[in-house]
Amino acid sequence: MVLEDNRILITGVTSQVALPVARELAKKNEVFGLARFRKAEDRERIEALGVTCVRADLSERLDSVPADVDYVLNFAVAKSPNADFDYDLSANAESVGRLMAHCRDAKAFLHSSSAAVYQGAGHQPVRETDPLGDNHRVMMPTYSLSKIAAEVMARFGAKQWNLPTTIARFSVPYGNNGGWPWYHLMMMKAGHPIPVHIDAPSDYSPIHEDDYTAQIPKLLEIASVPATTLNWGGSEIVSIEQWCAYIGELTGFEPRFNPTEQTIAALPVDVSRLEAHVGKTQVHWRDGIRRMIETLNPELLIGS
Ligand SMILES: NC(=O)c1ccc[n+]([C@@H]2O[C@H](COP(=O)([O-])OP(=O)(O)OC[C@H]3O[C@@H](n4cnc5c(N)ncnc54)[C@H](OP(=O)(O)O)[C@@H]3O)[C@@H](O)[C@H]2O)c1
Repeated sequence: MVLEDNRILITGVTSQVALPVARELAKKNEVFGLARFRKAEDRERIEALGVTCVRADLSERLDSVPADVDYVLNFAVAKSPNADFDYDLSANAESVGRLMAHCRDAKAFLHSSSAAVYQGAGHQPVRETDPLGDNHRVMMPTYSLSKIAAEVMARFGAKQWNLPTTIARFSVPYGNNGGWPWYHLMMMKAGHPIPVHIDAPSDYSPIHEDDYTAQIPKLLEIASVPATTLNWGGSEIVSIEQWCAYIGELTGFEPRFNPTEQTIAALPVDVSRLEAHVGKTQVHWRDGIRRMIETLNPELLIGS
């Protein structure tokens, strides 16, 4: 499927993850970008991409949101600083029902979920059928539970409104708009130790923005009733220790690690289902990390 001449609603359009998607899709589609737009500069950045900004709080009514869209890409996520379960469940989970009911005539609905929904299986890549759990509690108390609740709402909505749906569980999305490896770069620059789990190495399945953006048409194509659920990660398993060491090679900053139980443990994802339906990812992680620094902080590269 080629995404051209469609009306596409992207929620969380100002997010690290969705912004590159909006930029790409706005080239050939009419894109509506939903967020609360609390910062004026966010709105300017999004409008500059040719995206129509739609100001709405997903925890409230959606009267101002266009309903006549072909596709919905739901990337919004609330992580309230004071761990407000009431608000986060409303903004992350009730919102999915509200959005699906509002856009029930869309051709497909893509819900961005997270590997945070899994209990975790140490260094064993988790499969879609593996047990769920409150994985991220130690760092983000409301996150895993509200992402699980959001998935339930997406499953319900797909059946209730016969709305073809894909639930895609991200591992570590990153790229030229940032992501976890970029936060690690900032910590290394500031001389802060990087928390890693004592059960080393802290393996994940990072996926570059070029890959996840390119996969969106196929993820919409496989949307179904009942919903399709799959992991959304890169084809290579890479640890925090590995990507920080490589960031160190590129910048000269020596990574210092703080092994602790008070951080998220390894959580690589099994990408067999993704690869079978959508294909392998293309961007090698070293290439992706180098390009991230070249784009965001070229001044930090050795020899710059
Ligand atoms: N980043 C990662 O490493 C990672 C890992 C796994 C999964 N994911 C998933 O990827 C998606 C994007 O994550 P992200 O980290 O890129 O997000 P982010 O940078 O934290 O941005 C969150 C987005 O949601 C919007 N938003 C928050 N609360 C809202 C509300 N009540 N109503 C409307 N919009 C609201 C924000 O805009 P305003 O504040 O302007 O409203 C912003 O556009 C999420 O589904 C997340 O679970 C991300």
